[in-house]
Amino acid sequence: MTFQAAAWRKHFPLLANHPRLHYLDNAATGQLCEAAFDAVTHHELTHRANVLRGTYRLAELADSAYENARQQVAKYLNAASDAEVVFTAGTTASINLVAHAFGEGLKAGDEVLLSLAEHHSNFVPWQMLRERRGVTLRILPLTTEGRLDLARLGDFITPRCRLVAVTHASNVTGAITDLVPVVAAARAVGARVLLDGAQAVQHGPVDVAALGADFYAFSGHKAFGPSGVGVLWGKAEALAALPPFLGGGGMIGRVGAEQTTYALPPRRFEAGTPPIAQAIGLGAALDWLREQPWTALNAHTARLAQRLIDGLAVLPGLTFIGPRDMRERLPIVAFDLPGIHPHDICQVLDERGVAVRGGHHCAQPLMDFFGVQGAVRASIAPYNDEADIDALLEGMRDVIRRLT
Ligand code: ALA
Repeated sequence: MTFQAAAWRKHFPLLANHPRLHYLDNAATGQLCEAAFDAVTHHELTHRANVLRGTYRLAELADSAYENARQQVAKYLNAASDAEVVFTAGTTASINLVAHAFGEGLKAGDEVLLSLAEHHSNFVPWQMLRERRGVTLRILPLTTEGRLDLARLGDFITPRCRLVAVTHASNVTGAITDLVPVVAAARAVGARVLLDGAQAVQHGPVDVAALGADFYAFSGHKAFGPSGVGVLWGKAEALAALPPFLGGGGMIGRVGAEQTTYALPPRRFEAGTPPIAQAIGLGAALDWLREQPWTALNAHTARLAQRLIDGLAVLPGLTFIGPRDMRERLPIVAFDLPGIHPHDICQVLDERGVAVRGGHHCAQPLMDFFGVQGAVRASIAPYNDEADIDALLEGMRDVIRRLT
């Protein structure tokens, strides 16, 4: 059966309200799917109460909806247990959690390996950790097209390495990291592995068992779920070894005036009232996504990305930021038109109903690597179609006519 973008689009209520919108900013936020919308509405209308605290029936219904969401996430990730799923506020919160809790056990001279392709959310928490603990950050360089230079792993992972924290897929170039050598090199020196999965999760179920990492971070809003919620998945033994980060209600065993014992994971890491409805919405989104025909969906988005790359390649003066071939990459296409600010390009495109992001994409070290201030980025989801790509290409012809 051929995949029909128009049929998939019907599952996204906002798109029906904006029939003329060419929404190509899916790497920033995916549209909310109907399954998530319905689950949140149902929760708010039928079992809104705080969780893991109340003993009345309404609260018990809220508890079971919240814990059901944890199971749905665990299934999407092929996690060994739902206890490995920690709800957070998003990818940034998940990475900060590890930087604090895991970072607590590091000392001066210990090393954390990052790559030059990381989003700021996988740079800044480690730079802050360096200020606190004196750890050394090592930055894996990139190949000329912006992929992690895995041939140089051996030079950058030393016996002092305690953690490798890299992106599963770049939010700018769409390049997917070949994780096999990364995980093997980390294991060889006994280092843990944290993956920034913010861009990868919306392109099909993730198998954390097969990836072999210790931690996996992602956000709900990029996976067609609500904003304000995210996940830190951690291997049971990796989570159990971590002290808490945020202290407060819900994460304790027993609190005395002088001393406190802590709950087991995942609750140890969920201090305070969690994003309950958002987690329930995310669980429903992932449950729905898990059932989708991903081979067909990914073939469709790859075809659209190729159409865009081919169309942009014949335009004068344009530079691609990242790989031009479709090998091991997501349908995210970034480019620069030297001399024209990406925001100006985005404005002309917006006049034509084309929504793309322009700027540094929270990846300034990567922009420095490419020698640009910023870039325009189109990021494609299965509800996009040829008309969206062609509107962007037509818009770029207009940009070149008007601004160059
Ligand atoms: N991290 C999101 C992006 O890349 C916001 O656009």
